[in-house]
Amino acid sequence: MEIKLRYVNEQDKWIIYNWSNDVTTRKMSFNSKEISKEQHDLWFESLLASSRCWIAELAEGSLPVGMFRVNGEGIVGISVSGDYRGKGIGTSILEEAIKLLEREKEIHHISDLVAFIKIVNEPSISLFKKAGFGCEGITEYSGSVCYKYVYKL
Ligand SMILES: CC(C)(COP(=O)(O)OP(=O)(O)OC[C@H]1O[C@@H](n2cnc3c(N)ncnc32)[C@H](O)[C@@H]1OP(=O)(O)O)[C@@H](O)C(=O)NCCC(=O)NCCS
Repeated sequence: MEIKLRYVNEQDKWIIYNWSNDVTTRKMSFNSKEISKEQHDLWFESLLASSRCWIAELAEGSLPVGMFRVNGEGIVGISVSGDYRGKGIGTSILEEAIKLLEREKEIHHISDLVAFIKIVNEPSISLFKKAGFGCEGITEYSGSVCYKYVYKL
């Protein structure tokens, strides 16, 4: 499935809020509680300021279908809109994001990409393995037992 990545912008705020509070996304996140609008306000401001979050569209300017982000330590996050899961979009987002970060790693000061994935999150494990991330074992992250997957840019 072909997708285009673009930087996140202010207009994406509430669609990302809805994705974040999706039942599966909360279950697979390390903080599984529902996110309030106030919490989202603060988190979204820092996301915009980080310049390390991209939105996926099926065609330029079309409805957002997913998102990829990476923090200053290389820890990544990915999500696909509920209606679009299981169609290969997550795979395309991760492939495109890796290509982009291989080109721009100096700009973003990142050398390794790290994914902490809950053991029950089968779609995510398949996704990261297929993209070439290697499993570095089981660890504890944010109070949960999870896998650590790493990709060297
Ligand atoms: C994880 C996520 C981003 C995957 O995106 P997606 O577009 O559904 O993924 P794809 O369609 O590209 O499929 C990726 C792999 O997952 C597998 N998969 C998809 N849905 C699945 C399901 N319900 N159960 C098991 N495997 C599943 C696919 O078969 C594929 O593996 P394969 O290529 O080896 O067959 C998406 O499910 C999501 O947003 N989940 C909630 C948030 C989340 O868990 N984020 C990751 C946190 S680490």
